[in-house]
Amino acid sequence: MIKIAPSILSADFTRLGEEIASIRDAEYLHFDVMDGIFVPNISVGIPVLEAVRKFTDMTLDVHLMITEPVRYVKNFIDAGADIVVIHVEADTPERTAEALKVIRASGKRAGLSLKPKTPVDAVLPYLDLLDLILVMTVEPGFGGQKFMADQLDKVRYLRARIDERGLGCEIEVDGGINPETAKLCVDAGVDVLVAGSAVFGAGDRTGVIRRLRCLS
Ligand code: DX5
Ligand code: ZN
Repeated sequence: MIKIAPSILSADFTRLGEEIASIRDAEYLHFDVMDGIFVPNISVGIPVLEAVRKFTDMTLDVHLMITEPVRYVKNFIDAGADIVVIHVEADTPERTAEALKVIRASGKRAGLSLKPKTPVDAVLPYLDLLDLILVMTVEPGFGGQKFMADQLDKVRYLRARIDERGLGCEIEVDGGINPETAKLCVDAGVDVLVAGSAVFGAGDRTGVIRRLRCLS
């Protein structure tokens, strides 16, 4: 069963509660955090996550596009994150492993993401520490960009490595996902589809979530 993770980056922030209520058919709520340094954009942070946590029981999938995430992972967990995804490019290998261990030691799910130009091998040393790998299918920083189909080679490669080792790690993709590109991702072995503009740009949220699952 494919999981859908609408990204609230594309939601109407003046009506955030209603926007979240409109996507309750989805499995995860994807929450993008940008620091203006790791990516050339600044989004939302801890106080907004705390407010979202109070409002919904959905699984909160927090995507940290920030440098040296080990400084803040505990704060995002305390604010209500269920899954904390950090970037493999954001710190040294030692501190990346340390951050992942802190997340798991807190009883939360640990995720690692890689940017389009980062080779897939970069995440392999961490596989035993991971509950989720997020393959970026656009350059992180902005919603509404075009899907990069060449990133699906990474998905196929990771699917094979995860399955041959019998690991439970999920593969998630993020960027440019719509009902057409979703099908390509699912065929390549993706478990979780993040979608921002495709969901929040649609009037019928239930319908678009169903189409993203490739059910109709
Ligand atoms: C981009 C973010 C994405 C973004 C996706 O850096 O990580 O989660 O919201 O937006 P769409 O689905 O519009 O490409
Ligand atoms: Zn994201």
